[in-house]
Amino acid sequence: MIIKKISVANGAVRVPGDKSISHRAVMLGSIADGITEITGFLMGADCLSTIDCFRKMGVDIDVSPEKVIVKGKGLRGLQRPQETLYTGNSGTTTRLLCGILAAQDFDTSITGDASIEKRPMGRVTKPLSLMGAQIENEYCPLHIHGTKLHGIDYKMSVASAQVKTAIILAGLYADGTTIIRETEKSRDHTELMLGAMGADIKVDGLNITVNKTNSLKAVKVNVPGDISSAAFFMVLGLIMPNSCITIENVGINPTRTGIIDVLRNMGADIELNNIRESAGESVADITVRSSSLKGTEIGGDIIPRLIDELPVIAVAAVFAKGQTVIKDAQELKVKETNRIRAVVDEFSKCGIDITETDDGMIINGGKDIHGADFKTYGDHRMAMSLTVLAQLADGESTLDDSDCACVSYPDFFDDFYRLDN
Ligand code: S3P
Repeated sequence: MIIKKISVANGAVRVPGDKSISHRAVMLGSIADGITEITGFLMGADCLSTIDCFRKMGVDIDVSPEKVIVKGKGLRGLQRPQETLYTGNSGTTTRLLCGILAAQDFDTSITGDASIEKRPMGRVTKPLSLMGAQIENEYCPLHIHGTKLHGIDYKMSVASAQVKTAIILAGLYADGTTIIRETEKSRDHTELMLGAMGADIKVDGLNITVNKTNSLKAVKVNVPGDISSAAFFMVLGLIMPNSCITIENVGINPTRTGIIDVLRNMGADIELNNIRESAGESVADITVRSSSLKGTEIGGDIIPRLIDELPVIAVAAVFAKGQTVIKDAQELKVKETNRIRAVVDEFSKCGIDITETDDGMIINGGKDIHGADFKTYGDHRMAMSLTVLAQLADGESTLDDSDCACVSYPDFFDDFYRLDN
């Protein structure tokens, strides 16, 4: 696909629902008692994989453009699937499922696409095995022998909400108490939703305590727009001259807003308006205006608060004066692709001064760049970041695979080109 260039970016956009919250609403709704009604659900490929897996375990899930209705089976109501559960490209589906399936009284197998087969699952299977789980393999396909679990006191070795959530979910079924100690705070959508559903869960700073729970009660979930999708328009509005974009109804849970802090540090004009609460999550309309950006240093405990946004933050750094250093971000290597390598290789094609480091990258920005033939590595966030990057490159750019954007944002290109006015 040739990446069409726009000259300005103006107007309002509503990004699709939050991916993390959409996954959790289906999973927790499936093991709750009663009917979970989800509005604003992300109809992206990853969340559809989650729906598909739970349908295969006997959960009745109705999908319509307005809402998703999950008819919960209760904590003990899932049925043994007749086939291997296929999680597509979705790390969240794969890892979170492990926590639930480890505690069932049936066996299951899980696998996904070529990218999933390369993503580390030991980070989930190891703590679960300390709880008594029996899971074969550290890469997909995983074979899970459902069994009785017991609580553990576990110190996290990576800042990962997927690992944390898998342990919390197993903790709902495990005898006794499960304590999880985070070293850096990662997204807390699971804790918030489980609290609303009546689970015995407490959060005290970086420590989470879960006790065996007999039942969860279904709740209504109104999924806010995904800040990770809003990120592309935030950076677009900042780098394009004479532009102003409002992204409406975006989730601004503090565990997710690192991008706002970093862009403001870089000199970005970002306003949050109409801040409100929706189903336990904070939501706002975000307005960004063209800004002259300057380089910055990004590292430490802000990283889990912006991990998925780093490829598009790197785009902002390209158009910022001076140096941007991204460090402590080695987790980028185990995303849908190695996002440190992918960003450095693709950005270098445009003449950008960018260097790969062991835990991030260094970008010397503020220089002219030229177009290139980009590879996405099948990674949705690479496809969307490169589309933003190409806007200010001299000459033509192409993308080898624009379809992969459908993993988190099926209408990305329509929404993007509508802003050209
Ligand atoms: C997610 C957690 C993060 C994030 C992913 C979604 C979640 O992954 O990158 O896109 O929904 O819990 P890690 O837990 O691997 O950091």
